Amino acid sequence: MTQMLWLYCLVFLLPTESGRTFRQAASRNKEQVSAGPPNSGVCDGECADTASCIQHCPAGTQGNMEFLCRQKRWHKITDTCRTLTAFNIFEEDKFTFQTFEGPKINDHDSNTETITDLLMQRCPQDLSCVIKSIQNSPRIPGNIAFIVEMLHSISAMLTDVDEAKMKSYSIMANHILNSSTISNWAFIPDRKSGSVLLHSVNSFARNLFINKHPIDIADDFIHTMGTTFSRDDPGKNFTFSMRVNETGILVTGRVLISGNELEEVLPPSQAISATSIAFPTLGAILEASVLENVTVNGLVLSVILAQELKKVSLVFEKISKSEESRAQCVGWHSLESRWDQKACRMIQENSQQAVCTCQPSKLFTSFSILMAPHVSESPILIYITHIGLGISVCSLVICLSIEALVWAQVTKTEIAYLRHVCIVNIAATLLMADVWFIVASFLSVPMRDHSACVAATFFVHFFYLSVFFWMLAKALLILYGILIVFHTLPKSVLAASLFALGYGCPLVIAVITVAATEPGKGYLRPEACWLNWDMSKALLAFVVPVLAIVVVNLVTVTLVLLKTRQATIGNSTFPEASAIVRVGKNIAILTPLLGLTWGFGLATVTGGGSLALHIIFSLLNSFQGLFILVSGSILDPKIREALTDR
Ligand SMILES: *[C@@H]1O[C@H](CO)[C@@H](O)[C@H](O)[C@H]1NC(C)=O
Ligand SMILES: *[C@@H]1O[C@H](CO)[C@@H](O)[C@H](O)[C@H]1NC(C)=O
Ligand SMILES: *[C@@H]1O[C@H](CO)[C@@H](O)[C@H](O)[C@H]1NC(C)=O
Ligand SMILES: *[C@@H]1O[C@H](CO)[C@@H](O)[C@H](O)[C@H]1NC(C)=O
Repeated sequence: MTQMLWLYCLVFLLPTESGRTFRQAASRNKEQVSAGPPNSGVCDGECADTASCIQHCPAGTQGNMEFLCRQKRWHKITDTCRTLTAFNIFEEDKFTFQTFEGPKINDHDSNTETITDLLMQRCPQDLSCVIKSIQNSPRIPGNIAFIVEMLHSISAMLTDVDEAKMKSYSIMANHILNSSTISNWAFIPDRKSGSVLLHSVNSFARNLFINKHPIDIADDFIHTMGTTFSRDDPGKNFTFSMRVNETGILVTGRVLISGNELEEVLPPSQAISATSIAFPTLGAILEASVLENVTVNGLVLSVILAQELKKVSLVFEKISKSEESRAQCVGWHSLESRWDQKACRMIQENSQQAVCTCQPSKLFTSFSILMAPHVSESPILIYITHIGLGISVCSLVICLSIEALVWAQVTKTEIAYLRHVCIVNIAATLLMADVWFIVASFLSVPMRDHSACVAATFFVHFFYLSVFFWMLAKALLILYGILIVFHTLPKSVLAASLFALGYGCPLVIAVITVAATEPGKGYLRPEACWLNWDMSKALLAFVVPVLAIVVVNLVTVTLVLLKTRQATIGNSTFPEASAIVRVGKNIAILTPLLGLTWGFGLATVTGGGSLALHIIFSLLNSFQGLFILVSGSILDPKIREALTDR
């Protein structure tokens, strides 16, 4: 009793908006309904939520339809109406069922295994004796389920598959893979039927024996190619070109087996075979039947290879090319009936196609690409980022103005002059970097202007690198001031070296990066105006210099602080000790702050990023400018003095 009450509460409280929970509610209700008298005939008019009803199929078909009430209206949940039976499936050749001497079969237990047995007796050569009636049957949910089961038991029973059998099998599968059936798959009670079909076709094709001549069986919604090859072949391609629906455009998919791979794994003179099957509609069918949230955006390609071959490259043309956001290469996990990213790796992507390398196995035989889930950027984040960048830009402008005001007063000694050159350049480069960062974020829209995006990425890369190189310059300057007691170099030479380091090195790195990766379209990432990671690892041209500078600066600052402590203890007349300690501390804080900011920045771009990471990144980002203002100008006693003087 209590259990029933709980069950009831559960059903009642479940949010019925989501299809999955809706269906769960339906299956719970089914038990209640089937316990009572079937209330067929009342599946119309108003209804109370979570009520359900069952209706018989139209005359001439068997099975029933189940409806569930949602928002005062009946919605069909399952449909098992079918016209195909063990009686009529062989009807075409007028060899009636009853004359067959075997287990007596009545209409209700006309299970597909019995049919398969019959098939083996009637047309074992080519399985052709059921094709006519299947092709003439309407593509209603019950028939689809019936054919799926039949194909499943055929593939479980037959181990010697030749081209003729594969042809018939392909025609039967093609009938239910027709794009007009996609919505009907959703009503089949067995949620796994799409997956079962895929698995059956794959295991059937696994037993396909390929002789010398290649196999090419092309139907509209399933296309099989098979061939044999040996070690000496320069590699093989299977190229499929199919329509996802009657009116749609042709979409291509390509399987590439590289010659190098063959040479590596195959012993000489051994021939092996490879079979590949392309399905243009199966992605949508799996989506409709398994209630996966994801959308397949290419052909589904099955690859059946000798075990020795570990990987293949797959090129998927995108069905929907409108958005440039990131696709995912996936394999169908045949045990868990879901798409899984483990089996594949994305090699290259643009708005037209994606290239994946995948490892075919018994577990993962079929592959495709998924449309990236639409990443809607959180409005909070946009706020924080823009406010943060705004604060940073304002702080830097103030900092530069202060420096301009007090420049003459605070740059009287050589070391102070060079130090302020560093501060001004750090502030200026960070300001430019922030500005270009804003520009780049505006350019990171789906239909972006490629060359503008390249330019923005170049400048963001260059200026952020420049910030770090100027910090390095500042640290080295202190090192020079402390460790080299006799200042022998003239001021102009020192200043020139600082500029060479602060702008020259970043320029060289940024130019080499763009020159090396842009010709191969490996400079930009697909979803934003920033350095690519997945394909060319261009981002390393930012990360490695930055991390190196952070380490060098921390070491330098430690050295400097140790040295000045000794100096102040030993010789209290050392004139600039306190100033140097202050600058050292400044660098000691600023370097990790900037490094840390970019650590979080990287986490947000590489990991897809949680909201918290993004927020930390944006906050730190805005603090950079503020910190440079506070520590570099406002807290400097000389600057304050000069300011009050004015
Ligand atoms: C797919 O099904 C529709 C509707 O049943 C039919 O008109 C069409 O000819 C079929 N397409 C193919 C290629 O068999
Ligand atoms: C495979 O495709 C490449 C281009 O992608 C082509 O150059 C080559 O000739 C093809 N090989 C075969 C055997 O079709
Ligand atoms: C057919 O496929 C195209 C994409 O190739 C799609 O835009 C169109 O809406 C589809 N048509 C139907 C009737 O499903
Ligand atoms: C499916 O997508 C919706 C939003 O579109 C999301 O709320 C839900 O969590 C997703 N479900 C699964 C199983 O991913």
